[in-house]
Amino acid sequence: MSDPAIRPARVDDCPAIHAMVRELADFERLTNQHVATVADLRLSLFGLRPAAEAMVAEIAGDVVGFALVFATYSTFLGKSGLWLEDLYVRPAFRGQGIGRSLLLHVAALARERGCGRLEWAVLDWNTRAIDLYRSLGAVPLGDWTTMRLTGAALDGAGLTPSGDPAPAG
Ligand code: ACO
Repeated sequence: MSDPAIRPARVDDCPAIHAMVRELADFERLTNQHVATVADLRLSLFGLRPAAEAMVAEIAGDVVGFALVFATYSTFLGKSGLWLEDLYVRPAFRGQGIGRSLLLHVAALARERGCGRLEWAVLDWNTRAIDLYRSLGAVPLGDWTTMRLTGAALDGAGLTPSGDPAPAG
């Protein structure tokens, strides 16, 4: 099998990336949380103010994997970082170094941009992915708990940005 080409995603890759996001959600047993449409993804990656950027791995003209990142910031470092939101390789192409290549590509991008960190979250049962990450020198942040405010909890948080109670109705 030929080596994968890793390249920045193009707008016409959005349907393939969207399909792989669904496959990743299925793999992570989070299918019900994947509500984004292809149009949402296109706007997020290629709209007027892109929120994220993606790289794809291509073999013989077919997109077989992707990585999606966006910028973070650390006050402790005084530097931007990159957050790796998704890393995915289609099942038939796993175990051939494509995931590692995508991750190394993202790490090179972070270095090029002077980032202080490249971070991501991985489900604790996904030991094969964790083994890959550890093999590259990544370490788990065991003493941090990820928090999330979303949906009704976000809508009903009850306070305005000024700290005043939200007006009724
Ligand atoms: N099948 C085969 N090997 C795997 C697998 C898998 N499902 N998952 C991890 N590995 C291991 C291999 O053992 C390999 O180790 P080795 O080189 O010592 O043999 C190591 O990963 C590196 O293998 P690659 O070939 O570079 O990885 P691959 O191309 O299979 O991509 C990835 C790894 C992205 C984890 C892929 O298996 C995948 O998409 N899995 C399902 C989705 C997933 O877990 N994504 C990561 C979630 S975390 C996040 O998105 C930030």
